[in-house]
Amino acid sequence: MSSIPALQVKNLRKRIGNREIIKGLNFDVYPGEVFGFLGPNGAGKTTTIRMIVGLIKPTSGDVLIAGKNIETEFDEAMKNLGCIVENPELYPYLSGWENLEYFARMDPSIPKSRLQYVTDLVGLTNRIHDRVKTYSLGMRQRLGIAQALLGSPHLLILDEPTNGLDPAGIREMREFIRFLAKEEGLSVLVSSHLLSEIQLLCDRVAIISNGEIIRTDTVSALFAEQEQVVWKVEPMEEAKIILEEYTTVKIADDEKLITPYIADNIASWNKRLVEANIQVKEMKTVLPTLEDLFLEMTGGNRID
Ligand SMILES: Nc1ncnc2c1ncn2[C@@H]1O[C@H](COP(=O)(O)OP(=O)(O)OP(=O)(O)O)[C@@H](O)[C@H]1O
Ligand SMILES: [Mg+2]
Repeated sequence: MSSIPALQVKNLRKRIGNREIIKGLNFDVYPGEVFGFLGPNGAGKTTTIRMIVGLIKPTSGDVLIAGKNIETEFDEAMKNLGCIVENPELYPYLSGWENLEYFARMDPSIPKSRLQYVTDLVGLTNRIHDRVKTYSLGMRQRLGIAQALLGSPHLLILDEPTNGLDPAGIREMREFIRFLAKEEGLSVLVSSHLLSEIQLLCDRVAIISNGEIIRTDTVSALFAEQEQVVWKVEPMEEAKIILEEYTTVKIADDEKLITPYIADNIASWNKRLVEANIQVKEMKTVLPTLEDLFLEMTGGNRID
C-alpha cells in the first residue's frame, strides 16, 4: 500500500449564511488506520464528512483522497472512496443482492465477482437473497458497508455507524470495522459522539468542538493521560492529605477522591494509605466523560 495519506483535509471551512460552521480543519488519515472523529451533537462532524464526500461544497480549503483533490480531480478521488453518511440508501423491497446489483450497475468497472466478495466480507452470505425490509438495523448497516465497498475503495467513511444499534450490534460493528482495517488494509474515518466507542475502535482521534479541532492524537496517548482512579476511603480528609504528597487530588460527590491513573504508583499509594490506618473501601479506574474531556481541553469553557 502506498504511503500517501488516504485522506488529507487542509484548512477546510464551511460558512452557511453568515455562520461559520467549520472553522479551518486540518487532519490526515493514513493507510490502514481507523481514525475517529469525536465530538458532541452539533460539533460539525456530519458537515465535515459531507464536504469530504462531495455532497456539499467547502467554502474554502482542500480535501485530497489518496492524493487526488476532490475539487480538481473529482472522479479520480471518488474512485478511492466508499461512504455512508447518516443512513445507507437501500431499497427495502429488493433483496440485499439486488440492491448490490443495482449499485454495481452504476459503475461498470466493478467485476461481477465483487458482489459475492463483499457479501461474504460483511457476513451476509446467508441472508443476502432476503428482502432488505426483513433485515435488522445491524444487517442494513452491513449491507450499506458492502455497497460502499463495491468499488474497492481505499478509504471508508462512516458517519456514526453504531447509532441505533444495541450493545451486541455495536460490538459486532466495531469488530467488523477493525477487521476491515486490518485484513483489507482499508483506512476508515468514523465519527462518534461517544468517547468509549472511539477508545475501543480507533487508532487515532481528532476531537472536534464547535467547528474546530481541539486535539488530534493517538487514542493510547489520549487515554493514558485521561484515565483516573476513584478512591472510596475513610477518613477522606486524611487520605487526601496523604495522596496529595504524590499527586493532584480532587473530591467527587463529597465522598470520593479522584487522582490521575499512574500505573506504576497506584499500589504504593494504596500501601501508604493502609499503613496510615485509612480504610480503602473501593478503588477503581474510570475514564472521564466526553464532557469532562472538553472542559479540561478548553480550559473550562462551555461547549455549545
Ligand atoms: N444546512 C444547514 N444550514 C444551517 N445550519 C446547518 C446546516 N447544516 C448543519 N448546520 C449547523 O452546523 C452545525 C454542525 O452540524 P452537524 O450536523 O455537522 O453536527 P454533527 O457533529 O454531525 O452533530 P450530530 O452529532 O448531532 O450528528 C450545527 O450547529 C448545525 O445546526
Ligand atoms: Mg452528525
